[in-house]
Amino acid sequence: MTGFVTSDFKKYKHENKKIAMLTAYDYPTAGICEEAGVDVILVGDSLGMVVLGYDSTTSVTMDDMLHHTKAVRRGAQNSYIIGDMPFMSYGYDIKESVKNAGRFIQEGGCNAVKLEGGKIIEDTIKTIVSLGIPVIGHIGYTPQSANLFGKNMVRGKTYEIADALVNDALLLKRAGVCAIVLELVPYRLASVITGLLDIPTIGIGAGPECDGQVLVSTDMFNMYKKLSPRHSKVFSDVRSVMQKGATEYVSEIKNGGFPKIENSFTTDDEIIERIKKEYAKTDKNNS
Ligand code: KIV
Repeated sequence: MTGFVTSDFKKYKHENKKIAMLTAYDYPTAGICEEAGVDVILVGDSLGMVVLGYDSTTSVTMDDMLHHTKAVRRGAQNSYIIGDMPFMSYGYDIKESVKNAGRFIQEGGCNAVKLEGGKIIEDTIKTIVSLGIPVIGHIGYTPQSANLFGKNMVRGKTYEIADALVNDALLLKRAGVCAIVLELVPYRLASVITGLLDIPTIGIGAGPECDGQVLVSTDMFNMYKKLSPRHSKVFSDVRSVMQKGATEYVSEIKNGGFPKIENSFTTDDEIIERIKKEYAKTDKNNS
């Protein structure tokens, strides 16, 4: 149990302590995160791709998110959990956004919510925060707006975009977010943004100088075959271990190696003899 609370975002920054954030989407992974001492668990809408098999995150609904968030909360009862607000659950209507943010807290058992974007969602963030819900910002590459970006996913390689990112970071801070995820931002720019803020930056593909890091757990466990992003790292090759187990299972079923008597249950001989006698094999049994 990490015992992380919202005020720890600033405290960790102030004390120069790195924040370790990891995504989880289910009960067992959440338990593993908690036991490993992960500070903050993010139920990311990456769920849509890495668990549900969609091509992007834009298909993910509030119902999908809440279903998985509840499982994560059951698996990590003492952890700080952030619910990722899915595409179209916020932004276009403040009342609807606040209602959906509240569902993450009331139904999902989250401690905070995360929203992608800058200026465009400033008022939404201010209202959610004013109602007592901690918000995490997310700028740089924002997968929900992937259709707007070209092939170049790294954000901040031109002066205009770098300048817009710095402005968004400062604006989000003033709107009241307690941390900002920087995704796919050149590391020196991420370092500048980190230095300007008194709230932590949490990097993913934003270099080592952010105040914390987040990874998609299925990437670090090598569970999602479609991508192996440069900014990620396989910390344990769970896919290979599971693949080996499943292959051995198939071969033991085929060759009679499993199950053995020791994996089975017993009953009195007398009962078996009686059953055998009463149901002597006749064609009638199967007609
Ligand atoms: O959905 C997600 O997993 C995220 C992380 C990449 C930060 O937003």
